[in-house]
Amino acid sequence: MDITRVHPDDASAAAEFTRITTEAAAYDNPYPTSYSLEEQREELRNRDPENTVEGYLGTAGGVAVAAGSLEMPVHDNTEKAWLGVSVAPKDRRRGYGSEMASFLEVQAQRRGRTTLTTAVGYPTDADESHPDRRFATKHGYSFSQVDVHRVLDLPADQALLQRLREDAEPHHRDYTFRDSVGLPAEEILEDYCVLLNAILVDAPSGEIDYEEGSTTPKSLAERVESLRIQGRTLYTDIAFDAAEIPVAHSQLVVPAHDLLKIYQWDTIVHRDHRGHRLGLATKVRNLAIVQALHPERTSLHTWNAESNHHMVAVNDAMGFRPVRYFGEYYRKV
Ligand SMILES: CC(C)(COP(=O)(O)OP(=O)(O)OC[C@H]1O[C@@H](n2cnc3c(N)ncnc32)[C@H](O)[C@@H]1OP(=O)(O)O)[C@@H](O)C(=O)NCCC(=O)NCCS
Repeated sequence: MDITRVHPDDASAAAEFTRITTEAAAYDNPYPTSYSLEEQREELRNRDPENTVEGYLGTAGGVAVAAGSLEMPVHDNTEKAWLGVSVAPKDRRRGYGSEMASFLEVQAQRRGRTTLTTAVGYPTDADESHPDRRFATKHGYSFSQVDVHRVLDLPADQALLQRLREDAEPHHRDYTFRDSVGLPAEEILEDYCVLLNAILVDAPSGEIDYEEGSTTPKSLAERVESLRIQGRTLYTDIAFDAAEIPVAHSQLVVPAHDLLKIYQWDTIVHRDHRGHRLGLATKVRNLAIVQALHPERTSLHTWNAESNHHMVAVNDAMGFRPVRYFGEYYRKV
């Protein structure tokens, strides 16, 4: 198999890369989520200065058979690399996945990365014998933790959202809320980045330790601009304390290339402000706004560590149901 880097301007290589990742993600999975071609090409342009993404295509006999991704944080967690390998179902069990995995590992180590991470999707009733889990363990990866992919059918029950919001209100009377589309207001970005950077440390991460993120107002602006070019609209609800400092937020992303889905991204409450139901409040407020703006959307997707009991309780209250597991795996080299 020949392996070459995928450049975003090479439309046919990017299309083959996207075909393989899409077919691999959809196999045996009733709720596949993967990048469209235009989203993928923008990702490979690396406009987010905090994260480098490289795509590789494996071809055999002139036919594209494997896709590989390598993601590396630039300013924090610089010993880590995230690896993704996809082989279209018809091309499996020929060693292509293994070849791509070994290639990515060499690339990662050349860049000084010593903790390699990956994720494997499987049905909620699958055990360690699932093919993709066997692939990970065969390559020396250990299980770190499981994330649960949950889906909420849309439109969510507005009366339920309203009741959840009203029940939570007495717990945060000293806080105010503001919504934004795209980049939040410039004057709050410095403090807002402190909140964003805590998620790597504060969210459960299984057997792997993360250090805080390095997002700055400038890099956040570049990331949000890249999202816009991808056709993904970011909606954020932010809670402020009495000193007008952002202390909690929840993000939703509405993709233009998939007309039915909405993605739930981060929800985080600053450590000093927990216990005021701000996670639930920002999440519910944001959803009420976004589903009113996008009534055509039929499903909301979220991923949380199974051990994240507070967030899972909020999701349960909102009516999300588990549809699939994502096993996080790692290997130290
Ligand atoms: C996992 C994946 C990349 C494997 O691709 P592949 O080209 O079929 O992999 P290989 O042929 O190199 O198989 C390597 C090993 O994986 C395991 N494996 C893969 N498919 C298997 C299956 N259907 N049953 C049992 N074991 C399997 C075996 O240990 C196999 O070694 P063996 O053939 O010597 O028994 C592919 O199934 C895929 O794209 N899955 C979806 C994405 C994913 O989960 N990627 C892995 C994490 S990034």
